[in-house]
Amino acid sequence: MTRFTGPASTPVGASQRDLAAWKDRFRRPDGVPHPKTNPATPEKVVLGKTLFFDPRLSRSSSVSCATCHNPSLGWSDGLSRAVGFGMVPLSRRTPQVRNLAWGTAFQWDGRADSLEAQARMPITAPDEMNMSMDLIVERLKALPGYKQLFRDAFGGEESIGARNVTAALATFQRTIVSGEAPFDRWIKGEEEAIGPDARRGFALFTGKANCAACHSGWRFTDDSFHDIGLRADDDLGRGKFVPPSVTAMRYAFKTPSLRDLRMQGPYMHDGQLSSLDAVIEHYVKGGERRPSLSFEMKPVELSVQERRYLTAFLESLAAEPSSLTLPQLP
Ligand code: HEC
Ligand code: HEC
Repeated sequence: MTRFTGPASTPVGASQRDLAAWKDRFRRPDGVPHPKTNPATPEKVVLGKTLFFDPRLSRSSSVSCATCHNPSLGWSDGLSRAVGFGMVPLSRRTPQVRNLAWGTAFQWDGRADSLEAQARMPITAPDEMNMSMDLIVERLKALPGYKQLFRDAFGGEESIGARNVTAALATFQRTIVSGEAPFDRWIKGEEEAIGPDARRGFALFTGKANCAACHSGWRFTDDSFHDIGLRADDDLGRGKFVPPSVTAMRYAFKTPSLRDLRMQGPYMHDGQLSSLDAVIEHYVKGGERRPSLSFEMKPVELSVQERRYLTAFLESLAAEPSSLTLPQLP
């Protein structure tokens, strides 16, 4: 498909056709997919939510999943890098956990292939929750309230087990989905749902600025890994999990979604860019040239106006924050 370059540079007929095709690619799906191996029930969601907010899943009983993935901080923590067990700063930033039901690989380097597999990682990581699955099961069994929650979710008397803990956590997380943003209403045909600046920003995003090459689809991610030429340290990202000959995966990290972006930053897998202006400046320069740099990364000239349009567009991807009822811990 030809790139949509905006009303100013294309004949009206062609641009309208391209625009319609582009808009189609960003249309939200209905419903949430759950895997057949772990189907959702309301009871499992309640259990998963309770576990997500329960600090007793950590050894010190002071850190829950929600300590770092805090719903009132956009399901993250607002920090450049996460702070874990014993206040030790981790090497990476806490990602938000919205829209992961559609994800295919998890963590910045994709090392978890399902949300079920992912859930075990922060629990058992010594610098995160520093816990063992056995000890969690022991603790939960000692809390009468959990007996009922597990029975409701999984049936049977002996359903408190490591597998069901991670299954419930995964099921709850699949229900965390972005609300409808002004951009979604525009895609559905409400022409005035976003302003002219945001509409011009969309044209740049899908055209000259080439952002949609990687931030594609309604979640604004291709679920793939790229080196975008950021300042590198010894974190190879995806490169740690492929043979060294796969040059393109060195310093490659998962394309993050741009929905409900925290406009005040910080950004990137290690929080190295503190503002959106710095992010856009990075893409203008095109990133550090090195063998692993994605071929989609090229310097692009953007005027002050055009940078403003891109920012207005990114703002249009944010939904009104919705309220969440916190679970009662047993
Ligand atoms: C100490 C802070 C901290 C705690 C506690 C924590 N996380 Fe995370 N979470 C992170 C960080 C940092 C990453 C990125 C890790 C990486 O890429 O190596 C992450 C990544 C994730 C991801 C992957 C998101 C994606 O887009 O790929 C999911 C899902 C997730 N966490 C769920 C959980 C669950 C469930 C719990 C509780 C069992 C939990 N987290 C506890 C900090 C935390
Ligand atoms: C080659 C693929 C690619 C292209 C092209 C691209 N991005 Fe990205 N983007 C990524 C990846 C990968 C990351 C995460 C990199 C990291 O943390 O190491 C990212 C991170 C971001 C972030 C930070 C999000 C966060 O949560 O930290 C923003 C904002 C962003 N991109 C916007 C844009 C814009 C605007 C454009 C166009 C000017 C663009 N991107 C072009 C792949 C791309």
